Amino acid sequence: RTVYLNGEFLPFDQARVPVMDRGFLFADGIYEVSAVLDGRLVDNAAHLARLDRSLGEIGIRNPHSAAEWERLETELVVKNGLSEGLVYMQVTRGVAERDFAFPAGDTPPTVVMFTQAKSILANPLAETGARVVTVEDLRWKRRDIKSVALLAQVLAKQAAAAAGVAEAWMVEDGAITEGSSSTAFVVTGDRRLVTRPLSTALLPGITRAAVMRLAAEADLRVEERLIPVTEAYAATEAFYTSASAFVMPVVSIDGRTIGEGRPGPLTRRLRELYLGMAR
Ligand code: PDD
Repeated sequence: RTVYLNGEFLPFDQARVPVMDRGFLFADGIYEVSAVLDGRLVDNAAHLARLDRSLGEIGIRNPHSAAEWERLETELVVKNGLSEGLVYMQVTRGVAERDFAFPAGDTPPTVVMFTQAKSILANPLAETGARVVTVEDLRWKRRDIKSVALLAQVLAKQAAAAAGVAEAWMVEDGAITEGSSSTAFVVTGDRRLVTRPLSTALLPGITRAAVMRLAAEADLRVEERLIPVTEAYAATEAFYTSASAFVMPVVSIDGRTIGEGRPGPLTRRLRELYLGMAR
């Protein structure tokens, strides 16, 4: 397995980041995850635009143009012979003596990329549907930044794992913000596709945007508003989206069965439309 670290392609076990890296000490960095299908990056321009925005919001200079990023990612995909899976990219504020304030302006950011082979299309969970539990959203107030500070999401996903389910939906003031690593959607009886409007309370999902563009083709009207947990329990269909799951049907929330307890027809249609776009 080959990883990319600060301008070099290295064997996995030779890629090392110093103890004084601010990503390690302060979670002072951001990341992105793009899917790879048939050896090609999915919706990558949008992921790179969000990477650039995340960096800008925390004052780290983007070390590469979008074209350079894509070239490096593609080279990594080829070197790893990756046909289906993920490319992970991380940029931190670099290595410096431990001090909370930013280091000297000439401190180079640390750039890491690696690939993960993963079957996204043939994920058996997409056939059976995923179960989710709700947890309190314990995160900070700038969730629109794809920060590597993921402790609240780690605890949320662990709560899901402990409950034997696939994902945790985080809740604030009685409404769902998003999944621990995905965007939450519900479908109501009158063919409305409901998801939370973008704000600093959640990550602007790239898959979310694609699914919203495709909704009309599934004869669904998009409604961006808060989703109270009680409304989610009563939804006719539900699903979550992410680069690593695409469109994942949800068949139960906190043990309450959604719809017929099987992936709903509109969710299946959206997954098909998304796969059509992605390939
Ligand atoms: N997570 N919300 C959160 C909190 C996320 O971490 C993610 C993605 C999403 C979905 O965004 P997108 O559709 O752009 O992947 C929403 C990635 C996959 C991860 O952390 O592995």
